[in-house]
Amino acid sequence: MENVNLIRHPLIQHKLTYLRKKETNPKEFRELVKELSALMVYEIFRDTKLKEVEIETPIEKTKSYVIDEDIAIVPILRAGIVMAEGILDLIPQARVGYIGIYRDPQTLEPVEYYSKLPTNIENSSVFVVDPMLATGGSASKAITVVKEAHAKKIFFVCLISAPEGIKKIELDHPDVKIYTIAIDEKLNSHGYIVPGLGDAGDRLFGTK
Ligand code: URA
Repeated sequence: MENVNLIRHPLIQHKLTYLRKKETNPKEFRELVKELSALMVYEIFRDTKLKEVEIETPIEKTKSYVIDEDIAIVPILRAGIVMAEGILDLIPQARVGYIGIYRDPQTLEPVEYYSKLPTNIENSSVFVVDPMLATGGSASKAITVVKEAHAKKIFFVCLISAPEGIKKIELDHPDVKIYTIAIDEKLNSHGYIVPGLGDAGDRLFGTK
């Protein structure tokens, strides 16, 4: 698990508890996903590149700093959308692309059914986001899609991960760093993360 960065912080652990609880309703769940995503980004961007700029305050000119990176956020539909919103709250200048993936019922292979990525992402920091890293099938496919668009600096950001999914990404994409706030025990026979939080999409959008 050398490509995995497990982000720990008391605030994150506290909010994760409420995210996991089955009583948490969709409105609260969406707020928690956004808050947790923003808190993760706060840690992820700790060492980001800055450039010096000259600005004028109401008092005088001064040198100051701004982020010197083009940032692209790529949520995997549909649960990734709310994570992207939380990240955009902190990094409003980020460009956003979407990737939709389903699992072919015959082959069980992930199939891309939609993608709209920002242009010229060769030199961008690209963050593929999805709350749950379960088997890793969709995540791996989404990373392949951004690689086909020539992205070179790619990160995968999820809330809860399973060891199976981490292994898959490390095998398929050893160049991609994974950020997560929890590594759970395993997957059950239905592909759900245990203990996890259930179906993130259903809990976000109240579809169950
Ligand atoms: N996707 C989810 O939403 N939950 C899981 O536990 C696994 C995959």
